[in-house]
Amino acid sequence: MIGVFDSGLGGLTVVKELLERVNQYKILYFGDTARTPYGTKSAETVTRYAIENTNFLLERGAKIIVVACHTVSSTAIPVLKSHFKGVPFFEVVTPSFRKALSLTKNKKVGLIGTRTTVSSGIYQRLFAEADPEISLSTNPAPLLVPLIEEGWLRKPETRSIVKKYLIPLKMKGIDTLILACTHYPILKKIISEKAGKRIKLVDPSEEVAHEVAHFIANNVEIQKCLESNGEPEIWVSDLTPNFESIAQMFLKRKVKLNKVIW
Ligand code: DGL
Repeated sequence: MIGVFDSGLGGLTVVKELLERVNQYKILYFGDTARTPYGTKSAETVTRYAIENTNFLLERGAKIIVVACHTVSSTAIPVLKSHFKGVPFFEVVTPSFRKALSLTKNKKVGLIGTRTTVSSGIYQRLFAEADPEISLSTNPAPLLVPLIEEGWLRKPETRSIVKKYLIPLKMKGIDTLILACTHYPILKKIISEKAGKRIKLVDPSEEVAHEVAHFIANNVEIQKCLESNGEPEIWVSDLTPNFESIAQMFLKRKVKLNKVIW
């Protein structure tokens, strides 16, 4: 099985992209809905949760782990890799960074994400190593996650908040924008509209799914261990009546959620 985890249900945007590319393998998803949001927590706490989430997926038979959460990908990957030696990990930061690097023409890249992702400084480090001429402008966009979870996808308030978050980045003259949070692909249309035609968007869910598909296609051993298909199995650490409709919004199909008994 392909194990995928996130702080909550937003990581289903990654599952949706995986289903478009590797639907011959079963996906096991864990959303830590009891402890979400991660984007306002310290790197230390996020790392501890990430270890527990990975353990849950491995115990249920996952053979590769996809970290759908941008906050975890920005803060916990070195610890996860040394804690779970030999487990193939995929995260959303590296493929998004690579895509932005290949897209930018004027070397001005923008990023919106949670506060923890932005303050991790991981993208600054990656761009500085790859090309010191690239300037990265970031803006935390913490209001977008609750707006999306409330289903306010087309409300004027959402549009004006998106616009506000993008203004400082547009003023820097960016030509590429990284949507560094699981939830933002849901608002891609509005973000693209407010960003304007000249700014290209990087959608991490597409980039990581592409990377996972490429890895599996070139790794016969992994292909043998991944169970064949079936509906994605979705686990959550807390279940409330509206979670299934939120999950459906992300996955764009009907979903059944299973609650973990710790
Ligand atoms: N999954 C988180 C991320 O991608 C967003 C929600 C949260 O703050 O937990 O950063």
